[in-house]
Amino acid sequence: TAAPEHLDLAALEAEAAALLPPAVADFYAGGAESETTLAEAPAAWRTWRLRPRVLTGLSAVRLRTSLLGSDVATPIGIAPWAYQALAHPDGERGSARAAAASGALLTVSTSASAPLAEVAATEPGAPKWFQLYRQHSPAHTDDLARRAGQAGYRALVLTVDLPVLGRRLRDVASGFALPADLPPGNLPTESAVEAESPVWTVDDIARFGDLSGLPVVTKGVLRGDDAARCVQAGAAAVWVSTHGGRQADPAVASAHALPEVVDAVGDDAEVYVDGGLRSGSDVFTALALGADAVFVGRPAIWGLATGGADGVSRVLDGLTAQLAHTMLLCGVPDVRSVPRDAVTPAR
Ligand code: FNR
Repeated sequence: TAAPEHLDLAALEAEAAALLPPAVADFYAGGAESETTLAEAPAAWRTWRLRPRVLTGLSAVRLRTSLLGSDVATPIGIAPWAYQALAHPDGERGSARAAAASGALLTVSTSASAPLAEVAATEPGAPKWFQLYRQHSPAHTDDLARRAGQAGYRALVLTVDLPVLGRRLRDVASGFALPADLPPGNLPTESAVEAESPVWTVDDIARFGDLSGLPVVTKGVLRGDDAARCVQAGAAAVWVSTHGGRQADPAVASAHALPEVVDAVGDDAEVYVDGGLRSGSDVFTALALGADAVFVGRPAIWGLATGGADGVSRVLDGLTAQLAHTMLLCGVPDVRSVPRDAVTPAR
């Protein structure tokens, strides 16, 4: 079998697209509006170039790190993505097994196919975070936050870039809808019809922290001033993201927003980033620009669609091996301290 770093994500993407029903493949692959953000995301990482340091005597690298107090074997985690049972019968439990096997952090979506407690109970010793979406009913949103804390999730990720759903034209064209036999796993438990949940403000950071008893991460921040407001309001970490190009479009690429957010946050909170990361050198660039960790969405989807839990592990292990390879080539020993001057703008 090929070495893990020989992972070919482009081939895996094509394989996944061929396996999935067209409307599902489009739901996973698509972005909002003109899909400009979607198209620019990978290219934006490659506007940076490596500055390898030579003659360092480096022969091994450290990949382990700690994220909000949870130890992980790799700084590459799985981003929350919806309805995983549409990709493979292993669904979210498969992602949980893969994350545990690879020592990676798993973020579980509110829009999971499996109930949040069942995913939490899969490999219960492995660190998982729960991603919270605002629900129609405020009682339902609060209930999810509380249950995430009780189920053993270690952080609550508030997705803040979705005051309304992005205009995803592929889904409109395909008439994408969940099949009746694969319903959402986190439907409301209460029967009362309730008023619509108000759109979130920064005050909700402390509120959901109290409800869940968990550190709060705000996902979908693209501005330094917003990052500072989140941290001021109690966020333990800020997650730079364009939601995979599925919300505001054309939005600034994560690779271009990251330095501004890192500068605004300083040492007051952790900073993560996702969007278009497709190789170990992309990950290395994100770490050099100041991210404490990165997350992948679609690469994990392609892994699950093509190989279930094992497929997701191959993606995580492949990207991590590629990161180690780049670190060796660049003379950087530790993922926790990739120097800013390890990359420079391309000219
Ligand atoms: C997502 N994303 C997402 N984000 C979130 O907070 N909750 C969710 O349920 C989902 N669902 C979802 C479904 C699909 C099909 C995609 C592609 C994305 C966004 C996701 O967490 C992440 O921000 C992006 O996927 C990262 O970009 P890449 O790695 O896909 O380029």
